[in-house]
Order: sequence, then structure tokens, then C-alpha cells
Amino acid sequence: MRIDIVSVLPELMQSPFETSILKRAVDKGLVEVHFHHLREWGIGKHRQIDDEPYGGGAGMVMMIEPLDACLSELKSQREYDEVIYLTPDGETLNQRISNTLSIQKNLIFLCGHYKGIDQRVRELHITKEISIGDFVLTGGELAACVLADSVIRLLPGVLNDEQSALTDSFQDGLLSPPIYTRPAEYKGLKVPEILLSGNSKKIADWHYEEALRITHEKRPDLLDE
Ligand code: ADE
Repeated sequence: MRIDIVSVLPELMQSPFETSILKRAVDKGLVEVHFHHLREWGIGKHRQIDDEPYGGGAGMVMMIEPLDACLSELKSQREYDEVIYLTPDGETLNQRISNTLSIQKNLIFLCGHYKGIDQRVRELHITKEISIGDFVLTGGELAACVLADSVIRLLPGVLNDEQSALTDSFQDGLLSPPIYTRPAEYKGLKVPEILLSGNSKKIADWHYEEALRITHEKRPDLLDE
């Protein structure tokens, strides 16, 4: 997979890809992440990328020319499956979206800044708009990192135990059951007897029932779906 991230602050996104599991995925060549500084496509000697909104109002708007030039250049080099704009008014990210994106080949993530991008960029280039939740960040960069993390960890070979992505919360529409490790008793708190029983069928049933119970308790909306 290849992910191209377009941003005015690419330096904000270095460390997630230089650390731990994402670093290993990059080092193993399972994913290529390319950052593009939008200013390189800025206008004039000041490399302008934003301007005041037509009709007035607070905040600046990211201009169409630099964005169109940058995105057109990338799209002329290879075919992209999705051009994704990270924005609070996008579809809220969930596991289903991450699963779908993880089987694509080439993705562009566009990080918004200031008040957002000129609407015509959305019409011209954007194929998907994603929000990471109903709150507003200072820009799309951290959202892009969240999205990239949730997608990259699903690529075959990225996680050591491939099963572990399949048994995540949300993969079967349920939250995860409680987990324990040694010691079997700590300050009077005991690990449920069944987990020590060695009976894999009973343990699997217990996991499922606990997942149902916890989902019902914490996120009943997931069961409605
Ligand atoms: N940019 C600013 N806030 C955002 C959010 N919640 N999700 C995605 N991109 C954003």
C-alpha cells in the first residue's frame, strides 16, 4: 500500500511512522508513506496557500490552485483508489471504513487547515470525507495519523499475531471481553475460574458472552446495528 499525505504541517506527522509497529511496517516495505508539503505548490514568491473567504467571516480558506496543482500532479503519476479529505464534517471513522481502506493500493490523505478547503477542491478531487469524531482539531494532521494507523495495522504481515487484528473490538461488531494475565490472584482480585480451566470451548463461550454483556452495557448502539 502507498499513502500520500498532503499537508501544510508534515513535520507534525513524523513520529507515528518512525515508532513501533508503523515503523516496522514501513521498514518491511508493507506500506510507503509519502509526505507532500502543500507550500511547494503555493502561489507567488510567498508561496501563498490560503486566502480570505468570499462573503466574509473569520478564518482563512485553503486556495484551490495549490491544492489542484498538488493533487493533479500526484494523480498523473499513479491511479489512486481514494482521495480522502480529513474534516470534521466527514463520515465518522469506524472499523468498517478502515477495513475497506486496508485492501486498497494507493490512497491520498488531504489534511485541512484554517477554516478548511475551497469547496471546489472537494468537487474536483475528493472521493471520500472522513472525520475521526465530533470534535474539532487544529488541523487534519492528527486525524490523518489516526486513520493511517487504523488502516496500516490491518495490512497482512504488520501485526505479529495476525489473529490479533481479527479479534479486536469492533471486528465482530462487539467490544472485546475482559483480559487477564498472571498472577491468578492479586490483592484478593481473582481471575475468572473458567479462564484457568483449560477448556477451550467453554472459554470461547465465556469470551463471547462477556463481549455481549460489555457491549450491551457500554455501547448498546452497536447491538442495534
Ligand atoms: N480536522 C479537524 N477536526 C477533525 C476531525 N474531527 N476529524 C478529521 N479531521 C479533522
